[in-house]
Amino acid sequence: MSRNILILPGDGIGPEITAEAVKILEAARDGGLDVALTEGKVGGAGYDAAGHPLPPATLDAAKAADAILLGAVGGPKWDKIEDISLRPERGLLGLRKELELFANLRPAILYPQLAEASSLKPEVVSGLDIMIVRELTGGIYFGQPRGIETRDGQRVGYNTYVYSESEIERIGRTAFELAQKRNKKLCSVDKANVLEVTMLWREVMERIAADYPDVELTHMYVDNAAMQLVRAPKQFDVMVTGNMFGDILSDEASMLTGSIGMLPSASLNADGKGMYEPCHGSAPDIAGQGIANPLATILSVAMMLRYTFNETAWAERIEKAVGVVLDEGLRTADIAYAGTRKVSTSEMGDAVLAAFKAQL
Ligand code: NAI
Ligand code: MG
Repeated sequence: MSRNILILPGDGIGPEITAEAVKILEAARDGGLDVALTEGKVGGAGYDAAGHPLPPATLDAAKAADAILLGAVGGPKWDKIEDISLRPERGLLGLRKELELFANLRPAILYPQLAEASSLKPEVVSGLDIMIVRELTGGIYFGQPRGIETRDGQRVGYNTYVYSESEIERIGRTAFELAQKRNKKLCSVDKANVLEVTMLWREVMERIAADYPDVELTHMYVDNAAMQLVRAPKQFDVMVTGNMFGDILSDEASMLTGSIGMLPSASLNADGKGMYEPCHGSAPDIAGQGIANPLATILSVAMMLRYTFNETAWAERIEKAVGVVLDEGLRTADIAYAGTRKVSTSEMGDAVLAAFKAQL
């Protein structure tokens, strides 16, 4: 039976970048990779078509799929929807929660060809290869109670930052196992000097560390981690942190690699089922112009083949194809600089496709 991949293009640049990634998947399928592709609506597209950012049909398809490729959701068009539970971003949060995609893997790798696109000096970033492991279904983005209400005559907004021991343990074990396969260094990021929830986080990380004696565990406060990421990023190998800190630190790390348009991600559940998406959003400022960088989405497909389908050779072909087009000097606007050739979204996608097919 074919492995079933659900494609959810979403909003803004989502459909543009997803189309380029689908070209690669179709070529892989034609070249012998056993996959079947179906498409669904999520986010603003889901709201427009079915009145909900996560229509029941999409949720059913997502549960039935072996893996999901998502573009991005959201945009100003839907920011005025009064019922917050119907905003596009809630479609994405709903998918993560319903499928229990608790482990978000965000690699920040600087391609040598893009050293000049990084905002940091080459000697600080060259060879950078960090894996940020972000907890994705708990923490302050999901904690109850939450809301905006009137207290003593003025409005107050509040959220709850909560993690259970079991939630911390499962993301911790994912990070330790990844560290074992890499350089055996794990840095856990928290704010244990101020927040009780992260005091517990640190305690649990220390406890499970005993099961991974070959991994060196260190701890860092999130404010220092933000600083160290731009001061000396290569000190890190695997980093593990909660939902909000991971959201912020991975965006920061993305800039070291030249552009957020280069960063793929995997969101996995306990069975290895996953949703794969670029780290960036729907980029409404450039949507419809054909200039978005599709590489983060294409590299997300490579992660899918590696992590959910165990098809390492296919994943490597995609990554190699990306390297080839960067070697050729092709650049979308976000990574272009003097001496490179500026190309559109589809020109970039076609070039990767050609370099991919050349390996089949
Ligand atoms: P964003 O990531 O969409 O854009 C930030 C900046 O990066 C913009 O200047 C954009 O043009 C640029 N950018 C992003 N992706 C790019 C690409 N592939 N190629 C070239 N440039 C790229 O974040 P922003 O502006 O904060 O949010 C825009 C919308 O996206 C909002 O509605 C937000 O809620 C949503 N969002 C959705 C996410 C998702 O679907 N996973 C994640 C983050 C934001
Ligand atoms: Mg973010």
